[in-house]
Amino acid sequence: MHTRVEIYAGDITTLPVDAIVNAANSTLLGGGGVDGAIHRAAGPRLREECETLGGCRTGDAKVTGGYDLQARLVIHTVGPVWQGGERGEAELLARCYRRCFEIAGENRVTSIAFPAISAGAYGYPLQAATRIAAVQTRHQLDCGSNLTRIVFACFGEEAMDKYAETFGAVLGPDSVSFSTLNAACR
Ligand code: AR6
Repeated sequence: MHTRVEIYAGDITTLPVDAIVNAANSTLLGGGGVDGAIHRAAGPRLREECETLGGCRTGDAKVTGGYDLQARLVIHTVGPVWQGGERGEAELLARCYRRCFEIAGENRVTSIAFPAISAGAYGYPLQAATRIAAVQTRHQLDCGSNLTRIVFACFGEEAMDKYAETFGAVLGPDSVSFSTLNAACR
């Protein structure tokens, strides 16, 4: 199975993929950043379903419907808060990606989009965060993924460059493609 890995500069909520990943907090009841954007775009039924889930631990993930999103599913994961790098943050962030891929497999997801988990309000340095995303993606591809498309959505040119650099280094320069920039989101 050939998996296309894409870096997309723009709003994750508009992507026509099977599942989008939400960088949530442990309550799963919404917040700012990408979490707020996903809840706004999915509508109030998303929050209603989230209320039934009993929260989520850091490094874990839970799945809901996508409601008003184009995506069929939302996989909510809780990244670590950056505390300087000595508190197991890297392993917890890697676990988020692994759990999301695992849940995607269980739900027959064929295409998935990730935001830069932990790299906003939770303060994880973007370069280090993208490296973890790339290594976990490499691992997923090496294990024979059923995914046809893995998208990394990011905001801004700087983020796009960091993704390009780390994904190029980890996956090989020709294995990553770049989607059209969405001017409204830059
Ligand atoms: N599409 C793609 N990327 C986005 C979007 C979007 N619509 N909006 C923001 N980003 P953050 P975290 C980028 O703060 O660090 C929430 O309040 C953003 O530029 O959303 O995991 C939760 O409820 C950044 O690079 O998530 C938690 O309390 C990345 O997404 C807390 O924030 C992640 O930024 C989680 O913090």
